[in-house]
Amino acid sequence: MKQYSILSLFIAATIFGSCYYDVEEELYPTLDCTTTNATYSGVVEPLLKSKCYKCHDAANNNGNITLEGYTNLKKYVDSGQFIGVVKHSAGFSPMPKNEAQLVDCDIQKIEKWVTDGALQN
Ligand code: HEC
Repeated sequence: MKQYSILSLFIAATIFGSCYYDVEEELYPTLDCTTTNATYSGVVEPLLKSKCYKCHDAANNNGNITLEGYTNLKKYVDSGQFIGVVKHSAGFSPMPKNEAQLVDCDIQKIEKWVTDGALQN
């Protein structure tokens, strides 16, 4: 009998111990991420401005790629390159180059804007 209770204590400790280390953000990654109103002018353009324009605006078009302005960006949306580089998908050069990947919520907003039709809104 005593052995069983020690065993169940051990099991309980293992189960609750693992719960203790669960991080809410990892369990529910979308919890605090609101992707409604993910518009070009409100979300996408400001993100590009802060993370991408220093290399891809009209003056600094690294890799011959200009992302400044809706029409310029749209080409890379339509080719799949925009989502590919932002999500660090295989076969694309991960962006922003030599910097940390965009935070998950920003990537979700970008994806929402693209699946909504990548409108000039
Ligand atoms: C530090 C400079 C730098 C920053 C910041 C940067 N890029 Fe780039 N990007 C480059 C260079 C250089 C290339 C040319 C290909 C290469 O060297 O990987 C490139 C290539 C690309 C390409 C084409 C690559 C492919 O595989 O199709 C896209 C699309 C792109 N960048 C988008 C972005 C986006 C979106 C951001 C912001 C999230 C960004 N870049 C931030 C320098 C940068």
